[in-house]
Amino acid sequence: MKTLFEPFKIKMVEAIRKTTVSQRIKILEAAHFNPFLIRADDVMIDFLTDSGTGSMSDQQWAAIMVGDEAYAGSKSYYHFRDTVQDITGFKHIIPTHQGRAAEHILFACVVQAGDHVPNNTHFDTTRANIEYAEAVAVDLPIPEGLKPSANLPFKGNIDLDQLNDLLVSPPGKIPLGMITVTNNAEGGQPVSMENIRETSAVLKENGIPFFLDACRFAENAYFIQRDEPGYQDKSIDEICREMFSYADGCTMSAKKDGMVNIGGFLAVNDDDLATKARNLLVLTEGFPSYGGLAGRDLEALAVGLREAMQDDYLEYRIRTVAYMGERLLSKGIEIVQPTGGHAIFIDAQYFYPHIPKTSFPGQVLACDLYRRGGVRCVEIGSVMFGKQEPDGSERPYEGPELVRLAFPRRTYTQSHFDYAIETIIQAFENRDQAQGLHITRQTKFLRHFTAHFGLSQS
Ligand code: F0G
Repeated sequence: MKTLFEPFKIKMVEAIRKTTVSQRIKILEAAHFNPFLIRADDVMIDFLTDSGTGSMSDQQWAAIMVGDEAYAGSKSYYHFRDTVQDITGFKHIIPTHQGRAAEHILFACVVQAGDHVPNNTHFDTTRANIEYAEAVAVDLPIPEGLKPSANLPFKGNIDLDQLNDLLVSPPGKIPLGMITVTNNAEGGQPVSMENIRETSAVLKENGIPFFLDACRFAENAYFIQRDEPGYQDKSIDEICREMFSYADGCTMSAKKDGMVNIGGFLAVNDDDLATKARNLLVLTEGFPSYGGLAGRDLEALAVGLREAMQDDYLEYRIRTVAYMGERLLSKGIEIVQPTGGHAIFIDAQYFYPHIPKTSFPGQVLACDLYRRGGVRCVEIGSVMFGKQEPDGSERPYEGPELVRLAFPRRTYTQSHFDYAIETIIQAFENRDQAQGLHITRQTKFLRHFTAHFGLSQS
């Protein structure tokens, strides 16, 4: 059969409230042209993030009922710990309420002011947590990773030449190196096993610990199985285990490939680091056997991690992204190619050649998709990564201006995707009418969440 159907059926539904274009224009103005400030109830198809927005399975809901809410030594903690140990092979598994809490604890333990932390590409919270420790987050993507239309496998790789250069003459101490799987900020592109293995080896030679930012580890494993020579006959379990075997630990937002609405963990092999991390955990998250989560959350996570690694699920998941990509490309819309694991990334600069970086073409597109179709997505470009200079002018981000439509796991059906595709095509056909934006209010860290925008005079 040619048709690949969603490998689940729907047992519970949530209504979508329909809105009109004129209602949405008012909503957008009230939200200062920032989709993060729109109420979810005013959104029809929500592609803002794939983080914590997925649907849990009947098995996960059943597991929730057996959650053990003991403060210390909960049965659910051991279920969670054993599952994560089995998947990753790491020694110490430290639950946190979400990924950034794991990052904060890790960096607070190992990073000092002036240090440098390389990564293929830091995601915004990782970068912000490093900068908060007054250290430098160094992005080392391969050059092809920055070219949206370069259609190559494993575009998420770290550039080993640049990493070697950094290690030969380090501008400061390098307390750890990281790789983010998949590389969210560069288009959800996967990282090859070879790249993970070589990065690990190079860092080890220099005595530097290596960590994975493992949010989308199962999606990354699927690409390795599909596209990397030598892995076609390996199971997803085996591939995951090998990926993790090269690292000294990982940070994980379980809101992605943990298939839960909240949760995360830090995993490390080093005993002293684990002790330090747990001491900090008690201060900021909770006792080491729950780390800011309820026992039921830990149960749902233990089940979800295994579901994210199932072959049928991964095939459907990655195929959904590819389907939308193919439809957009057939209309001449530039996207990051090849399509990655969790999202479509539209090249907003190509979409709007008449809107300069300093007028935020990605933000303009995100707003237009909301206005036309009630579809919510996020800018990943100069709003997210640009900076305001002390004189108030904009220092744009050097990377591409992207708009990300991230797909909640197991939540929308094919017709929701078809509707979103229609919305994007309509915006493309009317792209000449679009007008730039400027920032009227912003914060120093993670400004994209709360910034206010105004329409610029074109
Ligand atoms: N690392 C990566 C690669 C991420 O994509 C995220 C979150 C985090 C770390 C932080 O995890 O949200 O649980 O604290 N990404 C979400 C996104 C927010 O929309 O891509 P968190």
